[in-house]
Amino acid sequence: MSRTFDLLKWTLALGSGDQNFLGAKWVPGFLGRLKGDSQKKWALRLLSMSPHYFIDGTSSKLGDETTDEFLNRVFDVIAGTRDEIYEKALSPYLGENDIVIDYGCGPGFVAAAVSPYVKRIFALDISDGALACGKILNGRENVGFVNAREATDVIPAGGIDAIYSYAVVQHMTDEVFREMLDNCRTFLVEGGKLILHVQLPDEVWKTESEWRSDATAKGKLKFKYGLHCFGRTAETFQEMLSEKGFDIIEIKEMESLFGRSDKELSSQRLIAATKR
Ligand SMILES: C[S@@+](CC[C@H](N)C(=O)[O-])C[C@H]1O[C@@H](n2cnc3c(N)ncnc32)[C@H](O)[C@@H]1O
Repeated sequence: MSRTFDLLKWTLALGSGDQNFLGAKWVPGFLGRLKGDSQKKWALRLLSMSPHYFIDGTSSKLGDETTDEFLNRVFDVIAGTRDEIYEKALSPYLGENDIVIDYGCGPGFVAAAVSPYVKRIFALDISDGALACGKILNGRENVGFVNAREATDVIPAGGIDAIYSYAVVQHMTDEVFREMLDNCRTFLVEGGKLILHVQLPDEVWKTESEWRSDATAKGKLKFKYGLHCFGRTAETFQEMLSEKGFDIIEIKEMESLFGRSDKELSSQRLIAATKR
C-alpha cells in the first residue's frame, strides 16, 4: 500500500523524459508562490516525496520530532555529507579561479559545499523542481541553477575549467551518459577536468543490459520510472570516455578517499579525466 502511495506521489511530480523526479511544472510554480520560511519547509517536504534525493523516509524520526523538524535535521546531515565529498573527493581537482559545472546537481547540496572554493558554478539538472528546491535551500551568490536542456544557451562553449558529477552517472543509460560526455566536451576548455563519481557492477548495481533483460512487471516499472541504477566496469568507462575524447588520469576507490570500509562505498569509484 505504501509502495503504491509512493508511486502515485512520484508520478504526480514527474516531469517529461527519464529520471525527471520533481520535474513537473507545478513544482517550481507552487514553490514560487510561497514566501519566507514556508519556501524552505515545502522544498524539504517536496524533496522527501522523491526517491532521488535521500530524504526518503528510510531514516527515522526521533521520539516526538515533527516531520518538519525531522526534515530539517536530515537537511543538515545531507549538507554534512556533501561537505565531506568536497573535502575528500573533489577538492584536489578544483581551484579558486575555476569556473565549474555541477552536472546533475539535484537540490544543490554539493554545489553549496563547493561554492566557497571556486569562482563560479553552473549547477545543471534536468529537473525544474530540483532546481527550484536548490535555489531555495542551497542558493549561493556564485551558483547559477540551470536546466540542463538549456545549458548551451547559458554556458559558453570551451569556457569551463572543470566539471564534476556526483551520484548521477549511475542513473543514466549508456545513451544519456554519452550525451552527457558530448556536452562536457563542448563546455570544457582544452585540458579541462572531468570528475565523475561512478558505480561498478555488483549484486545490487546490475549493468544496463542485465536490467533490460528483466521482463518482470517490476523490472518494466523500474524502467518506466527511471528507478534503475547501472553499474559499469572500469574498462567500460575507459572505452566510453576515450571514445568521447577524454583521457583518464586516475580512478580512485571511494573507500580509500573516505578512509572507511562500507558496503555501499566498496564498489564506488571516482574517475578523474581530462579533455584531450
Ligand atoms: C541522485 S541525484 C544526485 C544529486 C546531487 N548530485 C547530489 O549528489 O546531491 C541525481 C540527479 O541527476 C539528475 N539527472 C539525471 N539525468 C540527468 C541528465 N541527463 N542531465 C542532468 N541531470 C540529470 C537528476 O534529476 C537528479 O537530480
